Amino acid sequence: MRRKLAAGNWKMNGSRASLDMLETLAAAHRVSTCDIVICPPHPLLFPAAKICGSGPVQVGAQDCHTAAKGAHTGDTAAGLIAETGARYVIVGHSERREAHGESDAQVRAKAEAAIAAGLTAIVCIGESLEQREAGEALGVIKAQLAGSVPDGSTGATLVVAYEPIWAIGTGKIPTLEQIAEVHASLRAELVGRFGDTGKGIRLLYGGSVKPENAAGIFAIADVDGALVGGASLKAEDFSPIIAALDAS
Ligand code: 13P
Repeated sequence: MRRKLAAGNWKMNGSRASLDMLETLAAAHRVSTCDIVICPPHPLLFPAAKICGSGPVQVGAQDCHTAAKGAHTGDTAAGLIAETGARYVIVGHSERREAHGESDAQVRAKAEAAIAAGLTAIVCIGESLEQREAGEALGVIKAQLAGSVPDGSTGATLVVAYEPIWAIGTGKIPTLEQIAEVHASLRAELVGRFGDTGKGIRLLYGGSVKPENAAGIFAIADVDGALVGGASLKAEDFSPIIAALDAS
């Protein structure tokens, strides 16, 4: 059985004061049946992990470097992220693929570094609007999955997040049929590559997930949770999404 996962990606938002929401979330979801993760900017990882302790909310980072250490000004090694108490790291988010030119090979190397440091890598993939309209979505996503996911991945080391670029921060989501088609295809690819182990790898949907649309998305087969941006910044928005996942 795959344990469901509600992950919040704060992107370059939040402050020391916003960490108060972690206590609110923990109090509201003490008996949650899903994993709950908040990924704040790097400087907040340590205080966030301290606040979360061994409670129901866990902490993740938004990126890591491929190398364990070295002359990489401004970058952060996965091992140091693990030292903060974080358990997850997002790699290959479309905003990094676009703004920092990250390739599938780099994303895969980052995921490998994360896993080597004992973290669970949340590998993001997703098509652009042009690719979707040209009928290329499934091909693009499969190629990204093949190129970005490390060999030997398991449900403990890897989560895959399908985030169509055109749904991120736009308020638009694919139809439930489109999400179902992609997730079924991703599951088939993972099982094709990893056998039964591929059945244990969690698949998240991300892109404009809100309290209003969460239940419909979570009812889709092979949607094991969500990677949430804007609606993860406040407990009052993220909490109903977690509740919808719990109820699914
Ligand atoms: P929004 O939920 O704000 O659309 O962001 C999705 C996302 O990019 C999460 O990684």
